[in-house]
Amino acid sequence: MDDDMIEIESKLKKYNQEHLLEYYKKIKDEEKKKKVYKQLQNIDYKLIDNLYKNTKKEIKEDSAKIEPIEYWDKERLGSKYDFYEEIGEKAIREGKLAAVTMAGGQGTRLGHNGPKGTFDIGLDSHKSLFELLCDGLKEASKKYDVDIPWFIMTSRENNEQTVEFFEKNKYFGYGKNIYFFIQGQLPMVDTEGKILIGENGLIKEAADGHGGVYESLVKSKMVDKMKELGVEWVFIGGVDNCLAKMVDPVLMGLAIYKGVTGAGKSVVKSSPQEKVGVFCKKNGKPTVMEYSEITTEMAEQRDESGELLYGESHLLCNLFNISAIERMGNSTLPYHSAFKKATYIDKDGNKVVATSPNAYKFEAFLFDAFGELDDMVVLRVKREEEFAPVKNATGVDSPETARELYNNFHNKLSHKHK
Ligand code: UTP
Repeated sequence: MDDDMIEIESKLKKYNQEHLLEYYKKIKDEEKKKKVYKQLQNIDYKLIDNLYKNTKKEIKEDSAKIEPIEYWDKERLGSKYDFYEEIGEKAIREGKLAAVTMAGGQGTRLGHNGPKGTFDIGLDSHKSLFELLCDGLKEASKKYDVDIPWFIMTSRENNEQTVEFFEKNKYFGYGKNIYFFIQGQLPMVDTEGKILIGENGLIKEAADGHGGVYESLVKSKMVDKMKELGVEWVFIGGVDNCLAKMVDPVLMGLAIYKGVTGAGKSVVKSSPQEKVGVFCKKNGKPTVMEYSEITTEMAEQRDESGELLYGESHLLCNLFNISAIERMGNSTLPYHSAFKKATYIDKDGNKVVATSPNAYKFEAFLFDAFGELDDMVVLRVKREEEFAPVKNATGVDSPETARELYNNFHNKLSHKHK
């Protein structure tokens, strides 16, 4: 046995994962065995052990000081609108902006067979979410006479299919500006904390959450690529908002003028009870609090003009200076656990198809890194202009609602231009 294997074995024993060793010894296919070996070598068992133990702990009351965050309303900037726009436009024209789309999620709620970005929301054009986002970039590239590089984050699970989809669609004519990178992943564990074996015979791992974007940008050297291209500002958004305005000179101008390294877009909550995360300050630092972390009383608080104090919901549409990405990419984010359905291979080699949640998945959240920034500007935008998420198969935030929002917005736009 080589030294590495001895080390792996001792770690597996220490962290109660010996079943993986037994499984490994039984693998006959040499290729698979090599792959599993690599996985066994790379897993941070101590981290997984801690994360599993955390799932059993009660969440402690947080005594942090929470305050509302200042925000700017895009509709009420008055003469400042043109001022910020000019600053942002200059930087965009100088090639200082890149866009990142996070497309590594599993899209479980939507239930589409394939990467979420390949989903057709049912527009007359039958364009996929990827193409709709690409349209926005192409339009902006033309408008500002500049190439805006597009970095797409995939997961190990969906990278191949995603790249194939782009190839098949000739990269929507935007190929020379597109870069793919793969996000990190972590093993899934059962209710006893045992790491699972997936259907493919490899250790079952899942993408490490959208918070993995910063570290992945640094580790995959995409940040170096951006610097090489002269990029100073990076828009980061999800793949599932088909109205996302990735190139926004007003947001960029505001961030530059205010001298901050991060900026985020919000829409005002539709009601105090809406289940969305909101921008706020925690111990003086910007953050996003989940709806479950905010008391009803806080959710209903209003200022003297009647605006909700905690009403700026986070759209997953943020802009960062490249220095901030490097800082956040080198910091350690907390992981949150999610109890999910996971089909796996049991110790007797039988496939177990999950019909209800049976395993923990660990994810970092993008906004947990905001605390690394000294400050952040929040720009409130209009929901009907910039937010049409596709989350669920039916009902709220579904292809149907997104399609309607998309069509309304674009119809209005074409009337305006007539
Ligand atoms: P969501 O949290 O809505 O997850 O991701 P999801 O994968 O789209 O859907 P569910 O929860 O499984 O139903 C918001 C955005 O972050 C990306 C997603 O692709 C989406 O664009 N994301 C999420 C990643 O890129 N990686 C992850 O690990 C998680």
